[in-house]
Amino acid sequence: MIHDLDHKKKTGKKQQKQFDYSEIYRQLRTNLEFASLDKDELQVINLTSTNPAEGKSSVSANLALIYAAKYPKTLIIDCDLRKPVIHKIFRISNKTGLSNLLKDGVDVASIDINSSPYFERFKDKEDDGKLYVLSAGSKVYNPLELLASEKFSNLIAELRKKFNMIIMDCPPVSAVSDSIYVSHVSDGTIFVVSSKDTDKIQAKTAVTQLKRNGVNLLGAVLTKVQDSNTLNYYNYYSD
Ligand SMILES: Nc1ncnc2c1ncn2[C@@H]1O[C@H](COP(=O)(O)OP(=O)(O)O)[C@@H](O)[C@H]1O
Ligand SMILES: [Mg+2]
Repeated sequence: MIHDLDHKKKTGKKQQKQFDYSEIYRQLRTNLEFASLDKDELQVINLTSTNPAEGKSSVSANLALIYAAKYPKTLIIDCDLRKPVIHKIFRISNKTGLSNLLKDGVDVASIDINSSPYFERFKDKEDDGKLYVLSAGSKVYNPLELLASEKFSNLIAELRKKFNMIIMDCPPVSAVSDSIYVSHVSDGTIFVVSSKDTDKIQAKTAVTQLKRNGVNLLGAVLTKVQDSNTLNYYNYYSD
């Protein structure tokens, strides 16, 4: 189910299966579902972190695959318009994606997600196309403006009607405010912390910044534990 999603590996080379951490992601999905039991439903979730390379995109991709195993229609959106990698992870084209969908003035309400050029379906031996991928799209000079626009929030509102679950991969908090705007259109935000890379003080500053901006922090996912490819998670924001 969960694949070796290391996008830095050369494509074409036979992928070596690593530790199967699907159970950990299933647990994360269950915890998210429990977290939303007595509150509003979590249909749109975004992921961010303090700095680059802490594992946001990897966790987003794995989480999206785990949701796709459960629901008929799951969408992953690459909202990191500055350093997009979701298309590399799923080995799809990035010619048309989120930025184009926003700039082309597409009427999303009337789009058929199964035939639209903007949405790619991820299919392989074990995954039967229940995961849809909206890559970042062509490079733009104003990512913040696009993500802060009404067009973007309208897009997400329309996509809520078409998908059971939406996962949004975001840039880090330290450099740009993009993820704050994305968080404002999502139901909750997961904060990724790398045990290997993340600086505690910087992470605290990032969390404070998110909270100050009214972001609904759901909890944290800890990556790169003990230099193996394991992943742990814990909720330190929940009551
Ligand atoms: N849990 C993990 N354990 C070890 N390496 C990881 C883990 N998650 C991601 N990586 C590696 O770290 C690098 C950055 O990951 P990525 O998901 O692109 O981070 P980000 O989106 O935060 O920039 C990649 O080479 C990826 O393979
Ligand atoms: Mg990333």
